[in-house]
Amino acid sequence: MDELQKVALEAALKAGKILKENIGKNFSVSYKSDKNLVTDVDKLAEKTILGIIKERFPAHSILTEEKGEESKRSPFKWIIDPLDGTTNYAHGFRIFCVSIGIEKDGEVILGVVYDPANEELFTATKNGGAYLNNIKISVSSISSIADSLLATGFPYDIKKNPNNNFDNFKNFAFRAQAIRRAGSAALDLCYVACGRFDGFWESGLNPWDVAAGSLIVAEAGGFVSDFSGKEFSIHKKETLASNGKIHQEMVNILSLQREK
Ligand code: IPD
Ligand code: CA
Ligand code: CA
Repeated sequence: MDELQKVALEAALKAGKILKENIGKNFSVSYKSDKNLVTDVDKLAEKTILGIIKERFPAHSILTEEKGEESKRSPFKWIIDPLDGTTNYAHGFRIFCVSIGIEKDGEVILGVVYDPANEELFTATKNGGAYLNNIKISVSSISSIADSLLATGFPYDIKKNPNNNFDNFKNFAFRAQAIRRAGSAALDLCYVACGRFDGFWESGLNPWDVAAGSLIVAEAGGFVSDFSGKEFSIHKKETLASNGKIHQEMVNILSLQREK
């Protein structure tokens, strides 16, 4: 685990440095699909991470957002978002991060999320706790939705997708203290882990958005499930993360939209 962690940290810090150095500069931006941007910096950060992992662990499988999956016969799979929060990044809005998770035999065992603009490094290992800049973190103790600060996000295909989250947003907005849409799912999860947010929900996320962050929440004492409260998987499309105390209330509110 030590060597895996060392390499994951090195990769996240190097990629984060690239993001920080290039923000506001004249990088090129293109569309992957409606609303879904990718910049040269996403690609450069990803290339840097891939170079580090392939040199140190050439036999491991790797899944990255921009290059896709490189499958090997290995129990280990690295799951990487080189820049989570690309829309923010392209606009100079400083909420973005690098997210690196590692699965062993299909279970996430390590997560690193690095926010270079705020110099915040979130880490977790399976059964080893969660940390922010090497200080142990835990979820909030808020026990009702009415007192909660929640976070969510919306899919890029919002115009076509009937599951566009507007009904859920309205149902939570009426009940919660407030809701934020910060634009980086990996950081949303880390903010649940360290108690800044009390809960987070989003559908349509990909494994690279949630692999690291979901472990960080769980290791900080929180709970992650699908929208029905059932077992979470980074490969399924529903992410509900909370401090545990408001989880059932969040499941109940999410069920209002399904019952319609
Ligand atoms: C996006 C962000 C955003 C979420 C989107 C993701 P990207 O990732 O995490 O918060 O709402 O669903 O795709 O495209 O910036 O890596
Ligand atoms: Ca992402
Ligand atoms: Ca990304």
